Amino acid sequence: MKKQKKIVIGNWKMQLTLRESVVLAKDIVKKIPERKRGTDVVVCPSFTALPSVHSLLTADITLGAQDVFWSESGAYTGAIAPRFLTEVGCRYVIIGHSERRQYCGETDAMVQKKLAAALHAELTPVLCVGENAEERRNGQKDYVVMRQVTEAIRGVTLVGKQALIIAYEPVWVIGTGQAVPREDAEHMAHVIRHTIADVVPPATMEERCRIVYGGSVDGKNVTQFTQSSVIDGVLVGGASLKAQSFATIVGAVDRAV
Ligand code: PGA
Repeated sequence: MKKQKKIVIGNWKMQLTLRESVVLAKDIVKKIPERKRGTDVVVCPSFTALPSVHSLLTADITLGAQDVFWSESGAYTGAIAPRFLTEVGCRYVIIGHSERRQYCGETDAMVQKKLAAALHAELTPVLCVGENAEERRNGQKDYVVMRQVTEAIRGVTLVGKQALIIAYEPVWVIGTGQAVPREDAEHMAHVIRHTIADVVPPATMEERCRIVYGGSVDGKNVTQFTQSSVIDGVLVGGASLKAQSFATIVGAVDRAV
C-alpha cells in the first residue's frame, strides 16, 4: 500500500481581488521554488482568479476552487459546474466549508451532491467538517463530525483515480489565531477514519483518502499537526494570504515528512 504525501491547501476565501490574487500567486511561486515534491501544495483562489492564477503556477503547486455546484449544466443562475473548474485547471475543490454552511445555507444533503459531482468530474473534494462552539460545549463534537462525514459520503465509492480529502476544521477556532491541541486533531482524525471505514476499504483509505487539520494553522504550530502519523496535512486560511507565511508552512511540512 502506498502512503500518500502530506498536503498543504491554501484557502484564500473572499479576501483577494483578481489583481491581488495574481500578485500573491507570483510571490508564492518565487518563495516556494520547485522542490523535491515532498509535499503536495494547493492554492484555492476565488472563481474569478482561477485561470490567471493557474497560468502562473509551477508544476509543484496545484489549483483548487472554494466551491462547486452539483449539476454539470442547466438553468442554475450563478452556479459553477465541476467541468468549468477542470476546464480552468482545477484539480481540487473545497466542499462544505463551515462558512458556506453558516452563511449560504449549505446542508449535508447539498454537500453530498456536490461531493459526488466533484468526484464524477475527477476533482478531488476537500470535504470540510467540524463542530461549532455550542456543539462542542454540549459534548456533541464527535457526533456532529460523524454525521457530517456519513451524510457527505453517502453512496460514494472511490473508483479509478478518484481521491478524497477530509478536513477537520473546528468552527470555533477558524480565524482566531488559536489552533486546537494536536491531541484534539488526532482524536478527530481517528473518528473520521472509523466513520469512513464502513464505505472505504483499508487499502483504498491508505491510497486515496487524506485527513487534514484546519483552523488557525500558522508557521509556528503547523508541525504539531504534520508530524503526527494520523494527520495528512493542513488547510490554511489566514496564513495562506502572505507568500512568506505560506512558504514557511510548506517548508515545515516538507521537513516533517
Ligand atoms: P484559518 O482558516 O486558517 O484562517 O483559521 C481556515 C479555514 O477556514 O479553512
